[in-house]
Amino acid sequence: MLFSTIGEIKQQDNDASLSVFEVDLSSFSSIKKFESGIKQWLLDSNLHPSIQLLINNAGILATSCRVTSDGYDQMMQTNFIGAFVLTNLLLPLLKFSPVPSKIVNVTSFTHRCISNTDLNEGTLGAKIFDCLPTSGSYPSARTYELSKFCLLLFSYELHRQLHLVDPSLNISVIAADPGVVETQIMREIPPIISELAFKALRIMRLLQSPESGVNSIIDAALAPSDASGEYFFGGRGRTVRSSKLSYNAQLGKNLWSRSMMLFEEVQRSFD
Ligand SMILES: NC(=O)c1ccc[n+]([C@@H]2O[C@H](COP(=O)([O-])OP(=O)(O)OC[C@H]3O[C@@H](n4cnc5c(N)ncnc54)[C@H](OP(=O)(O)O)[C@@H]3O)[C@@H](O)[C@H]2O)c1
Repeated sequence: MLFSTIGEIKQQDNDASLSVFEVDLSSFSSIKKFESGIKQWLLDSNLHPSIQLLINNAGILATSCRVTSDGYDQMMQTNFIGAFVLTNLLLPLLKFSPVPSKIVNVTSFTHRCISNTDLNEGTLGAKIFDCLPTSGSYPSARTYELSKFCLLLFSYELHRQLHLVDPSLNISVIAADPGVVETQIMREIPPIISELAFKALRIMRLLQSPESGVNSIIDAALAPSDASGEYFFGGRGRTVRSSKLSYNAQLGKNLWSRSMMLFEEVQRSFD
């Protein structure tokens, strides 16, 4: 699939410098290897040592609790922690871009299910960074919603930091929500249930094809720099307000400090 995409791009621009890198967002060492690989490739290809666009699209809807080799809940590490670590590792390259650069975080309308009661002081960190017990039932939907809410809090906090602390930095941070899309997101759910769910959503005219679902992400990727801090939803350049709680700057700050402690720990482990 990726190699056919490379072929298609080459057909349009034979001089394009292209490469494919693998990364497992649920593994810090894989993320580090990815960052080193990109830097080396930019150097070897004699390209400007910078990045113009980062789209954090990877996400899973896990139905069981699985602990990663780094000791975190796999869904939380893939959907939020990994994106946080990757973005911060790549931030110097994004800041070094000679043209305005952009970070697009692919979140979900399900972040709206997270309320104040899910986040009372003290439990936010524990729910994100402490691995859940493997016995008993796994709160699959709740963990997914929380991971997408965290990705959104992180987007807005990074936007505030980049724009308030140093407005001369030309980096936008944008959230994109594809809506309900018929993809492989329900791959862990028994086919009989996921097919039934897709059928019901299709009847309600809520289900989109991947070709149409991707529009909000493309809109975010192509948006002008002053769209930083926006939430793209529905295609055709449309932006909407996300949940009231997602704009809570104190929550964003708390999540940032806790995530940054982890990021610094991860960085030290690479030294
Ligand atoms: N579908 C929806 O209705 C919907 C709604 C709102 C938001 N979203 C969000 O949209 C994004 C894309 O999901 P999708 O609907 O396209 O689902 P999908 O078809 O299951 O695609 C998920 C993508 O994430 C990648 N991925 C999974 N785990 C990864 C990891 N550890 N490291 C790196 N990549 C990983 C997968 O790669 P492999 O295929 O190689 O495993 C795949 O490319 C997700 O963030 C999801 O939460 C989807």
